[in-house]
Amino acid sequence: MAEWKLMLGIILMCVVVLGVGSLQSQENKWAGEELLGKYRYDRFEKPKKCLTCHEDIYRQWEQSMMSQAYTHHWDEIEYFDLAVQHAKVKPELKPVVDGCNGCHTPLAYMAGDVTPPRPEKNSRANESVSCDVCHTIIGSKEGTPVNFSYISSPGKTKYGNREGVESPEHKTVYLDFVREAEFCGTCHNEKDPYGVWVKSTQIEWNEGPYSKQGVPCHRCHMPAAPGKNAKMSQIHEDVAQHLFHGAHDPGKVGGAVEIRIHPNVRETEPGYPVVLTAQLFNGKCGHKVPSGSVEDRIMWLHVEAIDAKGKIYHLPVDKKGFEGEEYTIASDVLAYQDLGDIMEIPDFKGLPRDGVPVGDRIFRMPYFDSQGRMTICQWNTASLGTDYRIGPRETKIEKYTWNIPDEVPEGKVIVRATMYYSKLVKPVGDFLKVPEDETEAMLVNTAETTFEIYY
Ligand code: HEC
Ligand code: HEC
Ligand code: HEC
Ligand code: HEC
Ligand code: HEC
Repeated sequence: MAEWKLMLGIILMCVVVLGVGSLQSQENKWAGEELLGKYRYDRFEKPKKCLTCHEDIYRQWEQSMMSQAYTHHWDEIEYFDLAVQHAKVKPELKPVVDGCNGCHTPLAYMAGDVTPPRPEKNSRANESVSCDVCHTIIGSKEGTPVNFSYISSPGKTKYGNREGVESPEHKTVYLDFVREAEFCGTCHNEKDPYGVWVKSTQIEWNEGPYSKQGVPCHRCHMPAAPGKNAKMSQIHEDVAQHLFHGAHDPGKVGGAVEIRIHPNVRETEPGYPVVLTAQLFNGKCGHKVPSGSVEDRIMWLHVEAIDAKGKIYHLPVDKKGFEGEEYTIASDVLAYQDLGDIMEIPDFKGLPRDGVPVGDRIFRMPYFDSQGRMTICQWNTASLGTDYRIGPRETKIEKYTWNIPDEVPEGKVIVRATMYYSKLVKPVGDFLKVPEDETEAMLVNTAETTFEIYY
């Protein structure tokens, strides 16, 4: 009996010391927390100033997500209606929620202007991730960059990727760090208050083949092309294009995964099974796909057969039997009940988890709150589920066993596999009234194969 009590005591102590399942202490919450209120807005120059000379770069940046990180519709909805609202219900979350701005509007965070004015107020918070944010970064406080761990040094010196260039306007200094993936990782890796890695694009890249081959983020998101980088500059062979195109660019998402599909037999008759095998190759992303805001994003494979008379049969994926697989096969269960706690909706039953055809394979990693319910709130994530995304240069195989029904007529059957991607699960977007371009199904790729039915 005494031994039993001792054991329980030890277990309880471990739970307390490790902080299992609880919010971590204030101190280690945000790597970049010391930046809060450190620099006034006027220590940084406005993007319009840079426009005078860096016209092309400005126009590229202006239509990238970087310039909209604070103003974009879904960001405004999630920040104000969920995160800021959550901190009202649970005041200890205030520093966490202020921290959103450390990446989405670094100037506001550094000015101590949190919660910043709404985008419609047109304040300097709207500058989002501006030219001067990035070009005054001189390093990372953390070896593995995370949670706006960038070191900021605002002023007349702009840090760049070229040695010995001169500007009439400012000093330019070459810095290795600007050319490294760790630079991007200061905002593209995130650890939440539960100590969970809720964003890990740079870590995924670091563990994958591209880091080994010296191909940083820049090569794919800021591709180099000959030209000028300022109106009065000389021509360079490799000017970094400030595209930052990602999940919001149909052309970037398109082809991210290549598909081939084949049947095990080319001829068969009703009553017999055909096994279709699909190969899914991520040949285009330097990290997993989806990456980044993985709590919101899903990619799914829809497979259907079309018989000789044009009738369509939806084929559900074969189960593989791994742990947590139920989250990777579309179903009509409910999830996201934590939205009820946050938005103070009594007896909130939740929303459909997937919003895609039941039986389709979903490539995702589920996020769970402290009660084990799936959540789209990364700051409210206590644990992660099975990671069933496609890694860089990884190929996943999916099988579809179809017992040919008697009604299938003689002739050719076409099997079509189509991969879609959505930036935000649709039932959540519809519930929160997020504009549809955020939840639309984007085409990643498609492939076909055929076999014959004979009697
Ligand atoms: C998210 C961070 C980020 C933002 C925002 C950003 N830049 Fe850059 N910029 C970089 C990085 C990183 C490089 C170096 C790219 C490389 O090494 O391939 C760079 C390179 C440059 C260069 C040199 C290009 C060359 O190859 O000669 C200029 C000039 C420049 N940026 C100006 C600007 C201006 C002006 C803006 C705003 C309109 C801006 N940047 C916004 C990160 C940023
Ligand atoms: C009056 C014109 C002018 C203005 C305004 C200006 N720049 Fe420049 N900038 C230049 C010129 C010219 C160069 C040198 C380009 C070259 O020769 O490659 C340069 C170089 C740079 C570089 C270094 C590029 C490299 O290849 O390493 C960065 C970074 C940069 N500018 C950022 C900015 C930012 C950020 C702003 C706004 C806050 C800004 N510039 C405003 C003219 C200007
Ligand atoms: C100061 C923080 C910061 C730095 C540094 C930074 N980013 Fe970002 N980036 C963001 C934020 C915040 C967003 C999200 C914008 C939004 O709200 O959709 C973003 C968005 C993006 C997107 C668009 C993703 C999409 O869903 O469409 C790409 C691509 C991207 N960043 C690449 C890079 C690369 C490459 C670098 C390094 C050269 C970099 N970023 C450096 C903060 C940063
Ligand atoms: C080999 C090319 C390549 C490299 C290297 C690369 N990316 Fe990407 N990235 C892509 C492609 C293609 C997509 C579009 C597919 C997608 O959205 O996942 C993408 C998407 C993204 C997205 C949106 C992800 C999502 O699903 O919401 C972000 C953010 C991003 N990249 C940032 C980075 C950062 C940061 C690095 C470096 C640590 C990096 N990328 C390295 C090719 C690359
Ligand atoms: C460590 C930096 C960082 C912090 C802290 C952070 N974000 Fe982000 N956020 C990003 C980056 C980078 C992306 C883009 C990832 C991608 O495209 O997949 C992003 C994407 C998003 C998106 C999706 C945008 C879209 O258009 O799809 C929303 C919404 C968002 N963040 C809200 C928040 C809120 C609310 C908080 C605070 C609770 C927060 N973020 C904290 C870096 C951060």
